Amino acid sequence: MKLELKNVTKQYGKVKAADHITCTMGKGVYGLLGVNGAGKTTLMRMLCTIIQPSEGEILWNGKNIQDMGSEYREILGYLPQEFGYYPDLSVYDYLLYVASIKGLHHSYARKKATQLLRQVGMEKFRERKMKNLSGGMLRRVGIAQAMLNDPRILVLDEPTAGLDPNERIRFRNLISELSEERLVVLSTHIVSDIEYIANDIMLMKDGKLFYTGTAEELLDSMKEKVWLCEVPRKLVDRYMKNYLVGNIRTTEHGAELRIIAKERPTQEAAETEKNLEDAFLLYFGERSEEKKDV
Ligand SMILES: Nc1ncnc2c1ncn2[C@@H]1O[C@H](COP(=O)(O)OP(=O)(O)OP(=O)(O)O)[C@@H](O)[C@H]1O
Ligand SMILES: [Mg+2]
Repeated sequence: MKLELKNVTKQYGKVKAADHITCTMGKGVYGLLGVNGAGKTTLMRMLCTIIQPSEGEILWNGKNIQDMGSEYREILGYLPQEFGYYPDLSVYDYLLYVASIKGLHHSYARKKATQLLRQVGMEKFRERKMKNLSGGMLRRVGIAQAMLNDPRILVLDEPTAGLDPNERIRFRNLISELSEERLVVLSTHIVSDIEYIANDIMLMKDGKLFYTGTAEELLDSMKEKVWLCEVPRKLVDRYMKNYLVGNIRTTEHGAELRIIAKERPTQEAAETEKNLEDAFLLYFGERSEEKKDV
């Protein structure tokens, strides 16, 4: 099970939505993390052969996915960021409809749709119309439709968008469960969505994939340390300008800042353990000074 990207590039006019992306993926969960416009959807659409790279190639077990045609689509499941559906179909009928487009046999489709509805916790709502589902329910059905053909490669574009914290947790568990014997790529801009379930984290910015590896490796590669320090309230703005500041917690005497910096920001600052949020802030965050320029 090997999906290889070699110099994959997508150019839209002057914009390189994907810029020479090279990486290899195997079994497991890959969390694609990046801010709006980073190129996540573009990359995923290329993985799903919805669009073609302007340059470079994508290989599945050594074969170019463009050349594989329907053989590739048979092993692929895709939840688009915005997925279309017929609003008046019931959940169950919608799944049967997608199954028929995928060319699945009717009796298999009925069995599989029932099994998946159970798996994604939507059994109770199988007769509810698609238009009457909540955001979380819709995402569950979205995952179920992507799983109908029991894909080897499952691509989920922002599957947790718009979900409440409880739903997010249930989703993480569901995705972990579905990831056995599969390659799952999921995109998000929320660190906690992937912190516990992704074997590998992929950081994307301006079309470039600038980091792939485990969360531990990512934290180890950070040269910056994370500090907690209490400062008087009137100095908070100054620290915000001069340092990369994560959390700010109001205290009796001022504020406790979580600062990401190579050097100790104040004499009293205590080093604390880094987490993925800190890494996200370091690679994607802005200091308040930079924000003012926008
Ligand atoms: N069809 C298109 N034509 C022109 N430009 C496009 C097209 N699709 C994407 N882009 C541009 O490519 C860049 C990457 O977009 P993309 O949708 O891949 O980002 P994303 O990481 O998925 O963002 P989001 O988190 O908002 O979903 C953006 O600058 C976007 O405007
Ligand atoms: Mg997107």
